[in-house]
Amino acid sequence: MVWWFAVPKIVFGDDALSELEQLVGKRALIITDKVINKLGLAEKVSDLLCNNQWATAIWDGAVPDPKVSTVKEAAGAMKAFGADWIIAVGGGSVMDTAKAAWVLYEKPDVELEALTPFDELGLRAKAKLICIPTTTGTGSEATKAIVIRDDETGRKFATMNPELTPDIAILDPEFVVGLPKELTAYTGMDALTHAIEGYVSVWKNDFSDGSSLQAVKMVFEWLPKSIEDLTDLEAREKMLVAACLAGMSFGNSQAALAHSLGHSMGSVLRTHHGLSVGMALPYTIEFNCTESEEAAAQYSELAGLIGIREKDDVATSMKFAEAIRELMVKIGSPTSFKEAGVKKKDFKAGLEKLVEFAMMDSSLTMNPRNTDSNELRKLYKYMFDGKRIDF
Ligand SMILES: NC(=O)c1ccc[n+]([C@@H]2O[C@H](COP(=O)([O-])OP(=O)(O)OC[C@H]3O[C@@H](n4cnc5c(N)ncnc54)[C@H](O)[C@@H]3O)[C@@H](O)[C@H]2O)c1
Ligand SMILES: [Fe+2]
Repeated sequence: MVWWFAVPKIVFGDDALSELEQLVGKRALIITDKVINKLGLAEKVSDLLCNNQWATAIWDGAVPDPKVSTVKEAAGAMKAFGADWIIAVGGGSVMDTAKAAWVLYEKPDVELEALTPFDELGLRAKAKLICIPTTTGTGSEATKAIVIRDDETGRKFATMNPELTPDIAILDPEFVVGLPKELTAYTGMDALTHAIEGYVSVWKNDFSDGSSLQAVKMVFEWLPKSIEDLTDLEAREKMLVAACLAGMSFGNSQAALAHSLGHSMGSVLRTHHGLSVGMALPYTIEFNCTESEEAAAQYSELAGLIGIREKDDVATSMKFAEAIRELMVKIGSPTSFKEAGVKKKDFKAGLEKLVEFAMMDSSLTMNPRNTDSNELRKLYKYMFDGKRIDF
């Protein structure tokens, strides 16, 4: 069987942004959101290019958990400007907006939800893509994935295509120094979830494994440090790298159950992506390890990286899930719906939709344990109270 592993050119470290001085082209459209634009981060990119005789424009209409309609607006801006480079400056929502809009800019007839990994899109006839992350979690700058929200149903759908892997990812710590505490915690949990799910997904491979192992080690070491001291530049840079490594892993293997549960939470309850998948992660480890010997062995290998070893793989996996909860408590990321402030009545009202959307999510197929809607309902109920999984 032939496999391949796709990553962008990754530029990292102090002053990574200066990579733009080497760029060949004429017209760069910067895709961002209003928060990032206000912080002056898009302008920083624009100024550097303008000094090098580029024509630039900033489109700042991206919104958290991008909708199809927003993506279409961004594609319209690309067409109106005639961009030959698209530069996304922002978190996962901005990067996914840029990636998806790029598809529509090049191929206006594509229906995003119907996009498959096997479609030959012929991107790059008009423009290439650079991603500059301003959060330390999604790894979207290194993946071929996009997560978009349907305007009518509100359902977030994840899809992918190899051509969507950005051309260049620029990891410049200057772009994440101001990331607030809560977002640092939530996006850091997204990175950890990618690294762990990438390691147990049924599409795992030796290349994704290597990226996951390093990312797990780095998140446990550097996420608490980046929360303790928000100005710790080394911790910020390490988390940028860890998030990108985790993206390289799951982008080339796949995410699993925690992402199905998390996407659905984002759709129905509008909770932040990293908060959602991070909260789900320990429950899914407890759920998977008792039925899949392979997954238990894989979780045990990861647990070994942080010095956990119990009498067998299942016990080690359970302890690993607990260690993840301890990390979440330390950094202030909720471990249950209750802790996240979700009201019982809202949870009850949304439960059937949560289950329905999670069952439809593409990440479910790559989970090491098969499941059904009854189990997903039960998982959510346990997650509401913070109860450990025993089924
Ligand atoms: N395509 C992929 O591979 C992939 C992977 C994981 C997640 N995602 C998607 O990414 C989205 C989540 O992205 P995210 O977690 O990066 O958050 P986000 O992009 O949704 O941003 C959340 C908020 O943080 C603000 N923000 C971003 N950077 C900031 C900074 N440096 N300082 C201050 N505020 C800042 C944004 O303006 C926004 O208001 C979700 O839609 C998720 O489904 C995609
Ligand atoms: Fe994620």
